[in-house]
Amino acid sequence: MGSITADLTTFSQRLPSRGETILGDDFTLVLGGKGANQAIAVALAGSPAYMVSCVGTDLFAPLLTGGLQNAGVDIDHVSRVPGPSGIAHIRVDDSGENDIVMVPLANASLSEAQIDSAFLDRAPLSKVLLTQLEIPWALTQHAIRKAHEVGLTVILDPAPATELDDAIWPLVDIVTPNETEASRLTGIVVTDAASAASAGRWFTARGAGYALITMASAGAILVSETSVRHFPSIPVVAVDTTAAGDAFAGYLGAALARDADLASAISQAMAAGALTVTQRGASPSLPQRAAVEDLLHSQKATIS
Ligand code: RIB
Repeated sequence: MGSITADLTTFSQRLPSRGETILGDDFTLVLGGKGANQAIAVALAGSPAYMVSCVGTDLFAPLLTGGLQNAGVDIDHVSRVPGPSGIAHIRVDDSGENDIVMVPLANASLSEAQIDSAFLDRAPLSKVLLTQLEIPWALTQHAIRKAHEVGLTVILDPAPATELDDAIWPLVDIVTPNETEASRLTGIVVTDAASAASAGRWFTARGAGYALITMASAGAILVSETSVRHFPSIPVVAVDTTAAGDAFAGYLGAALARDADLASAISQAMAAGALTVTQRGASPSLPQRAAVEDLLHSQKATIS
């Protein structure tokens, strides 16, 4: 459950300073949104994905729903609401780093009634709820409560980070912030494995099952109430980091839905995130499962 957007992305050597105009090198218009990207990652990972969201009635809507359908995502619970679809305005520089302004638009029209109907219909077929923070927080909370009640594993990607109600953490099985989001949510500045572990403990002390903090080339830290484990990153050349976190969350959820153990689910998620940064764009950069498996095998071969 989450956002669907049209991603309008410019590529330029560097990002402009405030008030400056610069010439860019390329532009793309593709399907994105953290919710849609995660649903597509689930489908590419080979698990059924049921999307719950809204698009508008503008020119972008068919691109968005068609992209989800082509990727194999069920869109029976994606509503069309009058007005514009969600938009993300993304800028990417030559180092592959980005900045994003996301405007929810149609995504703000999701309702409790739509979520309830989707749960009635699809929760009996599901094992995991994946959600993020690009739709109204009241609705994210509503879905998390419902998912917890019916026994789904709840994975919350707290992006974009904003202050959240502490009552939510006991209902979250795995929270997956990157280092910036973890710093913003906990007030602990995450710069390395030790500070990531401290931030992770902030979440588990408030009731989250696990905190899984991603730190790009520094890997990921998994924190539970009683343990801390580091997962090293897979070295790749980054051309565009957009949607790496979504690939991570989607592959994590898909693996857990197939009953994989948490450590192997995290390895698959790390490989999916690594492959995503080697391609431009949001949904078009999400990898197929075969590529993820190949990368994991080549890693094992290098280590042994
Ligand atoms: O996580 C990447 C996504 O965040 C992009 O596709 C963009 O839509 C923004 O919402």
